[in-house]
Amino acid sequence: MTKKILLLEAWVAAGEDLLRAAAALGVEAYVATHEDVYATHYRPDLKEMISGVAFTDFGDPAAALDDLTAFCRANGVDGVVACWEFLSPVATLLAARLGLPGHDPVRAAACRNKRLMAEMFAAHDVPAPRTVTAADHHTLARRAEAAGIGFPLVVKPVENAASIGVTVVSSAEDLPAAARLAASETHKPSHGIPLDTTLLGQEYVDGDEFSVETVLTRGEVHHLAVTEKFTTRDTSRAETGHTVPAQLPPGVRAAVLTATTQAVTALGLRDGVAHTEVKVDSRGRPHVIEVGARPPGDNIMKLIAEATGIDQARAYLLTALGERPDLVPRHERAAAIRFITAPCAGTLTRAEGLPQGDHVVSTGLLKHPGDAVGDPRDNLQRIGHLMVRGDNAAAANKAAAEALNAITVEVSP
Ligand SMILES: Nc1ncnc2c1ncn2[C@@H]1O[C@H](COP(=O)(O)OP(=O)(O)O)[C@@H](O)[C@H]1O
Ligand SMILES: [Mg+2]
Repeated sequence: MTKKILLLEAWVAAGEDLLRAAAALGVEAYVATHEDVYATHYRPDLKEMISGVAFTDFGDPAAALDDLTAFCRANGVDGVVACWEFLSPVATLLAARLGLPGHDPVRAAACRNKRLMAEMFAAHDVPAPRTVTAADHHTLARRAEAAGIGFPLVVKPVENAASIGVTVVSSAEDLPAAARLAASETHKPSHGIPLDTTLLGQEYVDGDEFSVETVLTRGEVHHLAVTEKFTTRDTSRAETGHTVPAQLPPGVRAAVLTATTQAVTALGLRDGVAHTEVKVDSRGRPHVIEVGARPPGDNIMKLIAEATGIDQARAYLLTALGERPDLVPRHERAAAIRFITAPCAGTLTRAEGLPQGDHVVSTGLLKHPGDAVGDPRDNLQRIGHLMVRGDNAAAANKAAAEALNAITVEVSP
């Protein structure tokens, strides 16, 4: 009989990849979303890949869990996947209620809330920056000092994503503004999911940044790739690009993978995928920044497919259905994505010169002349992307740098 999978919010980059993977596997894809989001954001080609929709209100997570439990039982759903980080706890709790493959429901919230995550990391000796939390910036400053954490201090919201509200604060006088920014989003737009506005202060880790993409089957940890991440380096940390594979000495790569295994195990991840962000300091030591119990965004699954031939979206679906995915690399190549941003906020007047050729995997512009554009302080301010392939990481990085240099973006303030 045809298997059925429920995708929690497929209107995100990874959702599209998962819908395509479901179609390729001959699995019926059901989607859980809000009526308004479905009406406004789902393109016809996405809708064509969907067998049925469970409308619910994720703004009330407990009620959504009840709705979706009833929907899955009524429709005989065989597996549940989270496409969007904000719904990973609901996905984990739902799978557990239904007795389907998933992660430890007791630790579901710790995969989303950075305060709980820091507690799990500390309890399981995961190498991670020291962390304090507080309701206001005065208390945060006091707790950071008591914990021996000086400046620069990373201030962030405990429950946001995409670098929203994250500031690297260099002195006490900049703390109030950073705290205000971190607490400014109280609900996630589109679904109105309530966000805990507790402030988090964290020891700053200087170094290079990487992510590890992992598939877990019955608690067995399979790391597919290490991605090198490029970010802005001022007070904000927006991601500006990714390359698979990361160029790392073998010993450092091994240390990054060991730390990632510790982190995903500490969070009770068992059946599904994980996206782990790790910084490596000048001595080659890894520090885990965060784990998401969800597929990577930013087209990283496409980079992995180009670089290794492994289909992570397919692997996630099979794992959620209780089957064993094929995780054997088919080749060793490389791929890179870079995000196009405006030099400053204003009105876009020109965006031209996207690359063409056999080495180009894809390009796209989200904004066009006449559109308002923002400062590139978080990941939502991008105006487009380019993705290229190469025989190895150095070649992919070189091609990406050349392509980015050839692009003209002009803004009038
Ligand atoms: N403790 C830290 N030390 C250094 N950089 C950090 C630290 N925490 C976060 N950052 C930087 O800020 C970015 C966003 O922070 P992160 O904790 O990953 O939040 P989000 O959930 O928004 O992605 C990271 O990718 C990293 O570049
Ligand atoms: Mg992050």
